[in-house]
Amino acid sequence: MTYQVLDVRPMTRRIGAEVFGVDLNQPLGNQEVSELHDALMAHQVIFFRDQPLTHESHKRLGRYFGDLAYHSGVSGLADHPEIVAIHADANSTFIAGENWHSDLSEDAEPPMGSILHMHTLPADGGDTLWSSMYAAYDALSPAMKAFLEPLTAVHDSNHIYRELFPDVDKKYPRNTHPVVRTHPVTKRKCLFVSQSKTIRINELSKPESTAILEFLFEHVKDPNFQVRFRWQKDSVAFWDNRCTQHFATWDYFPDVRSGFRVTIAGDKPF
Ligand SMILES: [Fe+2]
Repeated sequence: MTYQVLDVRPMTRRIGAEVFGVDLNQPLGNQEVSELHDALMAHQVIFFRDQPLTHESHKRLGRYFGDLAYHSGVSGLADHPEIVAIHADANSTFIAGENWHSDLSEDAEPPMGSILHMHTLPADGGDTLWSSMYAAYDALSPAMKAFLEPLTAVHDSNHIYRELFPDVDKKYPRNTHPVVRTHPVTKRKCLFVSQSKTIRINELSKPESTAILEFLFEHVKDPNFQVRFRWQKDSVAFWDNRCTQHFATWDYFPDVRSGFRVTIAGDKPF
C-alpha cells in the first residue's frame, strides 16, 4: 500500500505499524483520515509517538472513525464521559486488561476500535501486546476452520466486574457472537473468542466447549501472531478491536502507569 501523507513503518509481517507524519492534536484532512484508516485495516494496530493529546483532540480523533462508545463496565471522566482513565499505582489490586481480550466483546455491538494515549509511564515495563486474530485463524487447519465456522459463543463480563466491584449491584452485558467472524471492511475471517470474556461455545457439550476454548485460548498466545509495544510518554495506540486481542503487562508494580482511552462504536459481529 502506498501513502501520500503518512509514513507507515510495519513492525511485523502480520500485525502492527508505527505511523509518522501526522499531528493528532490538529484537525485532520480527508487524506490523512483515509490513510490512517487504510493503515489500520492493513496493520490492525497502529502506533504514534510524541502525541500529547488533549481530551478534545482525543475525542475528535476517535470521531473521524465512528461514534464514540460508552464503556459498559466502568465510568468515564466526569467532564468527558466518553473518555476512560487507565491507571495503575501502588494502591492498585488489579489493572485493566491483564488477560487476553477484545475490548467489550460482551456487548451486543462490540467496539470497532480503541485509542489509548499514555501520559505517565514507569521507567521500564508496562508494555502492551496485541495478537492478530486473522493470523490465528489463518494458522488453523482446514478441518478445524470448518468445524469452528458454524459455532457461536457466549461473551460475558459479570465474572470479571463482580469480582472487582463486589459492592456494585449491576448486571453487566452477556451476548452471543460467532466464534469466527468476518471483518466488515476487509472481509477477512478472524477468531473472536478470548480467555477473559468467552465462557461457553453454545453448540457443544460443556466438556467439549471447555476443551475447544482452552485450545483456542492457547492458540492466540502464539508469539508469531503478535506485536509488543514499548510505550513512551505521549505514545498513542489505535487498534482494530474486531480482529485483534491485547494483553496489558503489569510488571512495574508499585510504579505509576496512567493514560486515557476512547472507544469507537462497532456493529454486531457476523
Ligand atoms: Fe483492553
